[in-house]
Amino acid sequence: MKLGLMASGNGTNVQAIIDAVSKQEISGQISCIVTDNPKAYVIERAKKAGIPYLLAQPKAYDNRQAWEEAIVTYLRQQGVDLVVLAGFMRIVGQPLLDAFPNSIINIHPALLPAFPGRDGIGDAYKAKVSQTGVTVHYVDEGIDTGEIIAQESLTIEADWTLDDLAAHIHDIEHDLYPKVIEQLIQNQK
Ligand code: GAR
Repeated sequence: MKLGLMASGNGTNVQAIIDAVSKQEISGQISCIVTDNPKAYVIERAKKAGIPYLLAQPKAYDNRQAWEEAIVTYLRQQGVDLVVLAGFMRIVGQPLLDAFPNSIINIHPALLPAFPGRDGIGDAYKAKVSQTGVTVHYVDEGIDTGEIIAQESLTIEADWTLDDLAAHIHDIEHDLYPKVIEQLIQNQK
């Protein structure tokens, strides 16, 4: 199974996947990384790991459709089977959904359907809920609405700051995402 990772920022989840592949905890390969953000630290991670990457900024294309088609072309050239969104902060549209049916997954830092959107950690913290967590799901045309593959919950302790919560959420993500990816690979066999 060839993985195509997509990320917009720091890329700690991408790093967890890179590390799991090198430790053979994931039995697939990482074919490439796609980012929409020239300042994303994930580019340094790609370079360091020797993984090919594409920087595709929407503004460099005539329209959204052309931008997404360029990403599809690249992912296909790299032979990608499973598209793994890891902090990719843009909505996935029809070109990608049509090219990779049931083969795009995302990680979200809340217990969907609670707190979808850009700030799942902050929204859960502000809402003062006692439980939040992490969701891995298939991507569909909605925002964080696709079929749920796995969830792990977390109790928010009364004395936690927002940073404490974020650190706990990221720890869960870095453990859960590689495990779910490997499970999907095993299910394909
Ligand atoms: C992660 O917490 C991920 O769940 C979140 O962005 C962060 C990226 O961190 N994604 C979303 O909020 C998607 N709606 P990273 O760049 O360090 O992996």
